[in-house]
Amino acid sequence: MNTAQPYQNPVIAQRADPWVYKHTDGYYYFTASVPKYDLLELRRSKTIQGLAEAEPVVVWRKHEEGPMSQLIWAPEIHFNQGKWYIYFAAAPIDYPEDGTFNHRMFAIENDSANPLEGEWTEKGQIVTAWESFALDATTFEHNGKLYYVWAQQDYDIPGNSNLYISEMENPWTLKGKYTMLSKPELDWEIIGFKVNEGPAVLKRNGKIFITYSASATDINYCMGLLSADEDSDLLDAASWSKSKQPVFRSAPENGQFGPGHNSFTRSEDDTQDVLIYHCRNYTEIVGDPLHDPNRHTRAQIFTWNEDGTPNFGIPLPDKDFVRS
Ligand code: AHR
Repeated sequence: MNTAQPYQNPVIAQRADPWVYKHTDGYYYFTASVPKYDLLELRRSKTIQGLAEAEPVVVWRKHEEGPMSQLIWAPEIHFNQGKWYIYFAAAPIDYPEDGTFNHRMFAIENDSANPLEGEWTEKGQIVTAWESFALDATTFEHNGKLYYVWAQQDYDIPGNSNLYISEMENPWTLKGKYTMLSKPELDWEIIGFKVNEGPAVLKRNGKIFITYSASATDINYCMGLLSADEDSDLLDAASWSKSKQPVFRSAPENGQFGPGHNSFTRSEDDTQDVLIYHCRNYTEIVGDPLHDPNRHTRAQIFTWNEDGTPNFGIPLPDKDFVRS
């Protein structure tokens, strides 16, 4: 095993949109989209690799009908203001209308010490300034404020979803203005579908970085990067700049295609940064990519460039990959 790259991939099979959060209790907490999109499960382990063997605990199941009854997508577990929250997207029907799905964003809350135990309470829809296809929320704290970043369709902007930021009144309510951070406009953002989604936040070197995923969720899926000075007004669009090129994309030489919907964590010894993401190890997808279950959870160490920006490298091969 390459000690510089201690993780054997894939870490967890058939878990898309992987979210790993390393808590102050030393545990890595894991959740992700499951192939049937019908429930929310949590795992925890003292090591990233150990998440593969960790027993999944189902903490919430989709409703029989209504706005939380279909296509449960991209959960994230966060510890905000002393309680556990899982943010996720759900829809009332399992098919798109007018070109996009009908998701809205929701949150559930648990005040237990161990979120795999205790009760989860539904906190309702995370209401934004307008009603449309909304998904892939994440939160982060900065300078004493709690922020919410998400993907949502704007009917006046061609495409499935753009990225937005807003401050939060509490961990399930937005407040004040919202700002669009990015819309799919560069050639690598609009292949198949015009998509900016799956934001993930990384704070380092005096900057706030937000990675996101772009294009259709097939071999063209890849990651972009937004950045702002940590002391700038994060709700001012002018504070943010966008990388002109993707920062993480398919690596045919390593048998990896369509990497994205990432999260970030730290290595077990807290000395290195870890990129968590999903990827497929083949190109030929039969039918709708959303219903191909083989977006596997992967983990790899990443480094930093001289200019202070993250260097994610390329998707590493599967542990049993043989170069052709
Ligand atoms: O995996 C389900 C959805 O597909 C996620 O919410 C989105 O990021 C991806 O495109």
